Amino acid sequence: MPCDRRQFLTRLAGPAALTMAGGGPALARTAAGPGTPALPPVSETDWDQLAGQFALDREVVNLNHAGVGCCCQAVLAAVERHARDIERLPSYHIFQYGPKLEPIRRELALMIECDPEEVALVRNATEALDAILLGLPLRRGDEIVTTTLDYWAMLDALDQREKRDGVVVRRVRVPVPAHTEEEILGVFAAALTERTKLILVSHPVNLTGQHFPVARLCALAHKRGIQVAVDAAQSFGQFPLSARALDCDYLGTSLHKWLMGPKGTGLLYVKKDLIPGLWPLFPSGQTRAPDDIRKFELIGTAPPVHLALAEAIRFHRAIGPDRIAARLRHLRDLWSGPLRAHERFQFHTSFEPGMSGVIVTVQLRGVDSGDLFQRLFREERIFTYNVARRTGEFQGLRISPGLATTPSELERFTETMLRLARELPSGA
Ligand SMILES: Cc1ncc(COP(=O)(O)O)c(C=O)c1O
Repeated sequence: MPCDRRQFLTRLAGPAALTMAGGGPALARTAAGPGTPALPPVSETDWDQLAGQFALDREVVNLNHAGVGCCCQAVLAAVERHARDIERLPSYHIFQYGPKLEPIRRELALMIECDPEEVALVRNATEALDAILLGLPLRRGDEIVTTTLDYWAMLDALDQREKRDGVVVRRVRVPVPAHTEEEILGVFAAALTERTKLILVSHPVNLTGQHFPVARLCALAHKRGIQVAVDAAQSFGQFPLSARALDCDYLGTSLHKWLMGPKGTGLLYVKKDLIPGLWPLFPSGQTRAPDDIRKFELIGTAPPVHLALAEAIRFHRAIGPDRIAARLRHLRDLWSGPLRAHERFQFHTSFEPGMSGVIVTVQLRGVDSGDLFQRLFREERIFTYNVARRTGEFQGLRISPGLATTPSELERFTETMLRLARELPSGA
């Protein structure tokens, strides 16, 4: 179905959104301020039209939006536009785009409620979090606490730190699923010692979608003089996120996932007074002062994809962060509701209020999740994520619909899973 983006945005968010979509006023002026009236309700037809904004291959049902996000056509067009613009005279134009990033830095700072001078634009969550995990000065014997459920690349960074610098990494096991914040806080608290300098915590855990009580953990850590780095790759854009409210010291996130920005975009937040103490991954001392957040951005020649974040931010804002969060939870409930009622399905994600969002991990009891993944993908054309690739603690498929997912795709998934539960014997 051909999509009229202007018409969609008008219906979805009223005339203000149309101004944003038209690219008229500067981004900063389109920010929803206090007192912004509630956005009008939208219909399934509107959501359907929105789903048509993405370049997805509809032969396959994509239920792995938590892996790599999808960006809308407007973002794709902007990526191409900026690339072409630079190609006119590459070694001149590529150096002109730095200042053009400043409004984007300000917009992202508005979104996560911090000072723009605390926001660096990097290439992905891994780069952001590695800057913290590898850049923090630590002595032999100093300790870092994290969980066995944290993202593999971050665990690799800590492993390297352990081997190279003699830092002690305590990887705690959190119950799967955890139904209360206290269960999670208790596990962390028990691992802290006099030598603990840093906690690395995922906001939602990539393998289960479990939400961790980050604000409470920061308060607990700060009382003991311990800093906290938050892996927000699965939260930023999925639901409203405030660095100020969390009161974390560092935060890293992808921008290609739930913000639906272009691939190759991520954000690093560092509390202002901590910037001078954190080494950048790529030394930049001749160009940037130690207290300049931009010291984390000098990586050599790179594609100008961050410029297209302006379109992604407009798109995200036109829909509305709260509405996105609610829609994603609704999509989760559409498929998980019927499966939760069935005894063959075991959930590794808690459905207690506040303990999860759109990401949920489910296991068909008695069936190897690698086999189930293959069967769904090869035979049923449904793409999920097999968590057993990254953990030996449990098996399951991580299911993460996105705004591009339609209810009928989720119905197809639900019916397929219920049929497989009938067809596949336990122990298959
Ligand atoms: C919790 C978490 N952290 C970090 C990452 C890495 O993100 P990126 O590919 O943007 O580096 C992911 C990716 O799925 C993730 O889920």
